[in-house]
Amino acid sequence: MGMARCTRGSIRSTVYCRMLVGLLVCEMSWFLLDHVVAAGDGGVVYMDSSQLIEDRVTDLLSRMTVQEKIGQMTQIERAVADPSVISEYFIGSVVSGGGSAPAPRASPSVWADMIDKLQHAATSTRLGIPIIYGIDAVHGNNNVYGATIFPHNIGLGATRDPLLARRIGAATALEARGTGIPYVFAPCIAVCRDPRWGRCYESYSEDTQLVRSMTEIITGLQGQAPTTNTPFVESGSRVAACAKHFVGDGGTVNGVDESNTVINYKKLVEIHMVPYVDAIAKGVSTVMISYSSWNGHKMHNNHYLITQILKSRLGFKGFTISDWEGIDRVTCPWHRNYTYSVLSSVNAGIDMVMVPFQYASFINTLTSLVTDGSISMERVDDAVRRILRVKFTLGLFEQPFSNRSLTSSVGQSDHRELAREAVRKSLVLLKNGQTGNAELLPLSKNVPRILVAGSHANDIGNQCGGWTISWQGAAGNTTPGTTILQAISNTVATTTQVDFQEAPDANYAKGKNFSYAIVVVGETPYTEYEGDSTTLTIPSEGIQTIQNVCSSVQCLVILISGRPVIIEPYLPVMDALVAAWLPGTEGQGIADVIFGDQDFVGKLPRTWMRTVAQLPLNVGDPAYDPLFPYGFGLSMNISTTALKNYVVKKQVVVFFESSA
Ligand code: GLC
Repeated sequence: MGMARCTRGSIRSTVYCRMLVGLLVCEMSWFLLDHVVAAGDGGVVYMDSSQLIEDRVTDLLSRMTVQEKIGQMTQIERAVADPSVISEYFIGSVVSGGGSAPAPRASPSVWADMIDKLQHAATSTRLGIPIIYGIDAVHGNNNVYGATIFPHNIGLGATRDPLLARRIGAATALEARGTGIPYVFAPCIAVCRDPRWGRCYESYSEDTQLVRSMTEIITGLQGQAPTTNTPFVESGSRVAACAKHFVGDGGTVNGVDESNTVINYKKLVEIHMVPYVDAIAKGVSTVMISYSSWNGHKMHNNHYLITQILKSRLGFKGFTISDWEGIDRVTCPWHRNYTYSVLSSVNAGIDMVMVPFQYASFINTLTSLVTDGSISMERVDDAVRRILRVKFTLGLFEQPFSNRSLTSSVGQSDHRELAREAVRKSLVLLKNGQTGNAELLPLSKNVPRILVAGSHANDIGNQCGGWTISWQGAAGNTTPGTTILQAISNTVATTTQVDFQEAPDANYAKGKNFSYAIVVVGETPYTEYEGDSTTLTIPSEGIQTIQNVCSSVQCLVILISGRPVIIEPYLPVMDALVAAWLPGTEGQGIADVIFGDQDFVGKLPRTWMRTVAQLPLNVGDPAYDPLFPYGFGLSMNISTTALKNYVVKKQVVVFFESSA
């Protein structure tokens, strides 16, 4: 392949020219390029931060070789991102996939060291174009041990608090920058229309308007854009965001991940596309393309929706990025025809390709397609222009390396307090007391003995869910935080005995005079297609624990799940029920509410179905007969708390007085 030889030659000559810089004339093309328009002060326009971004982009683009341009379109995984690869292939971006860290429990400094090492290689190339490092910071900087883990998006949807989302965005940005990362693949603005989808917890709601309102998180991540529809990132502690996955990812048939969204164009726009208008208006820097198909046409090579609609009609000026091996999956089976994958996806309008491992194959294939004219230089230039625009907007040319003063922001206390507030506001009270009986919540803090039970009561990993430390997430003590059991113990009186039993049998609670029990059960962590479900049941151990405990003690059930699950058969035995979604590391927020220090404000962001047979079932549907409707959520009579706790205290005081 002529170009390959040229590419290799170019790379060798680049090193040759750099080694003897100023003494030898490089190949004519570079010689001319290096003497294109210089800035007023005799500097180089693209390196002059006082110049307009568009002028810097144009200047730099004019200096780039085809190989340097193709390198910018290439995103590779951290695991293969050796500095020599960055240099040799002019790589434009590096990604940490879910769980991909420089070392287990790596500190923020170790993260920053790793990224700076790669960045040094990039900025040492002929034109010194910095890489942009991206990561899935989807509920905090969740790959990073010790980071604050916020409630997943479904819980934030329950808060209906866009300004809270903005604050969480700002905190997430700071904790990403604290590890040297300037780019996050968030927010997911999917409108999940069927909870059987394994990614439904990444969606704020089934309701488009609620999802639209929560795009406010982009302003937190990137900063307040001064003008609409223009990629914008405030310098310093903000990051480039990524609205994903364009478009219709949450509308697939039966919620099957990465499959087919069968819907007419009008409904596709009204339900799934409108949030992108808000994201673009807020200056979102990048848009990730969905694995899914629209009426059988893969999104990754859908020229009409990516180029004609997203870029032209909606005016998106940032860069589009493929999903992980997303271009490989346009064929069935995947990887069947890589040349077609590259050709059809890049020509459809994908600007950066998350390869992520076979970068030589991608670069060689793209080079060949550009050489033979199958992919025009105009298309390549459009892609690179968009990528450079975001890099200049991010300030990467001025500050390519980590700001070490921010490493202490990772997991900082005010972020954990913010996450605790988000947990409080995300909780939805679905049942409080048996019909005709007194409400169970708020629970009294001052009782002799309580039982806490369940697989999710003392497990940070379970309460965080997927996309936490590892791609799929995992049960166990995976990262620092406050479990729900710890939160309960922190809150009740020192005289209250707290019994914890993960899986009590049917007799355990009998005869022990527990004032009440708190049962915390739910779904175990999952991510993407691993979470697709056809039954929506929680593990049988959880059901068994509910039945074993609630049949003999007044019980509050706290459900940890990424979506509504089948609970109607077990509702009668529960005295109270709270949907806590996937709250993250700050379990104290749950105790704040169930003991009455704060009231419930959360409302269902999704319809809670009775049976799977009803699905899909969304607000506004005809024949709408859910267990709990969209927007449902009880509150407590907060004065009851004060009264209950006061009376109990009073009794204790009276008792001592009388015995004196
Ligand atoms: C995944 C997801 C996407 C994520 C990307 C990088 O497969 O679909 O949301 O940003 O790969 O981890």
